[in-house]
Amino acid sequence: MADRKATLTLDGKEFDLPVLSPNIGPDVLDIRKLYGQADVFTYDPGFTSTASCESAITFIDGDAGELLYRGYPIEQLAEKSTHLETCYLLMNGELPTAAQLNDFTNRVTRHTMVHEQMHQFFRGFRRDAHPMATMVGVVGAMSAFYHDSLDINDEWHREVASIRMIAKLPTIAAMAYKYSVGQPFVYPKNSLSYAGNFLNMCFAVPAEDYVVNPILEKAMDRIMMLHADHEQNASTSTVRLAGSSGANPFACIAAGIACLWGPAHGGANQACLEMLREIGTVDRIPEFIARAKDKNDPFRLMGFGHRVYKNFDPRAKVMKESADEVLGLLGIENNETLKVAKELERIALEDEYFVSKKLYPNVDFYSGIILEAMGFPTSMFTPIFAISRTIGWISQWKEMISDPTGKIGRPRQLYVGPLKRDYLDLRAR
Ligand code: SDX
Repeated sequence: MADRKATLTLDGKEFDLPVLSPNIGPDVLDIRKLYGQADVFTYDPGFTSTASCESAITFIDGDAGELLYRGYPIEQLAEKSTHLETCYLLMNGELPTAAQLNDFTNRVTRHTMVHEQMHQFFRGFRRDAHPMATMVGVVGAMSAFYHDSLDINDEWHREVASIRMIAKLPTIAAMAYKYSVGQPFVYPKNSLSYAGNFLNMCFAVPAEDYVVNPILEKAMDRIMMLHADHEQNASTSTVRLAGSSGANPFACIAAGIACLWGPAHGGANQACLEMLREIGTVDRIPEFIARAKDKNDPFRLMGFGHRVYKNFDPRAKVMKESADEVLGLLGIENNETLKVAKELERIALEDEYFVSKKLYPNVDFYSGIILEAMGFPTSMFTPIFAISRTIGWISQWKEMISDPTGKIGRPRQLYVGPLKRDYLDLRAR
């Protein structure tokens, strides 16, 4: 396409801004030279209108409610793929052959144990520490152990660090859970699937055999896949920004975990289930809907709304189907929390406030119901999101690191502070 451009007119001067076109999605105005030419910054605090990078990994169409991982619709992957195959796809760009998948699975499986000395880290935490606090600490500390995979400029180091984190995050999350409930750590078992191994490490105890329930194993694998990547969300942007300084991969992923913890982001799954429990019964829903609409009340419907989706979050649709399937197969159809969630969704989707603001259930609305039915406490919901999103963070980090034009991320500001002034001696204040 001919070189398109937008023209900015400022104080009688004109500045050309090249228009760049993506394969799909909105065009972008290339403002990289704007400050040098016009001595002005653009202003976009929540990055609502800002493309921070060029990426080929995940595409979201918020209006259509569409999510593609390397071009493949999430609905098709949820039905036909597995989390590990999706990890390969996100990281390498193509679905693996049988041989590639087998090799990738074997490499991940053989990296699931953590250095035995890392067990001591957990002893330093209080038993009632939130598992996310433990994960931020332990994942960041991986750079204190795995010195042979810290050099971001070495392709092999990057690959080994990536495999280690995909493999060890479930082990670390399970250890954080076991530590919080006062049970002994359970070592990984190479004979189990990725999701089955995580369930075993969380729920097996030395006192009796634990058999992985295939229904829960499949549901867990699907939950992991649905959360795997999501374009330039807050935690992924955090990982990219940390990586742009040349920080080691473990530090970057630990930064992503810290950002994900917030209730406006990955912490919403825990907050959502706690909200559904607080609502308690269907007859109390109108009271909470009214609070969500009250500008003077900071309360928001957790699990509702999204910066990008102005239609249904496609992951929420799959999650809702999975909730029905899992609870049905577990014989807990009359789960009160699920009833409240479905009725809340029905009422909200008919309410003018939510319709006008295009607020729909997001990925966090139903995930907690399934996780609770599996036996997880709410404090483990966001750690499970972190396990799932590790592949997205790693894939985006690798894409950024391999960009030869990459620079350190360093935004500017709209300064509204005091003008220059002289120091005032204490006696004169
Ligand atoms: C995730 O970015 C990603 O991709 C994230 C994620 C991923 O996979 O990485 O999808 C995962 O984080 C999902 C979102 C989980 N968070 C929640 O469920 C928390 C509740 N949701 C809201 O906090 C909010 O919807 C956000 C944070 C998700 C989005 O916020 P935005 O885009 O900044 O929108 P906004 O806050 O400007 O809200 C727009 C309007 C506001 O009203 P007005 O000021 O225009 O009058 O909608 C209202 C808000 O008050 N609103 C809500 C609401 N969400 C937005 N009102 C009631 N309940 C809500 N949940």
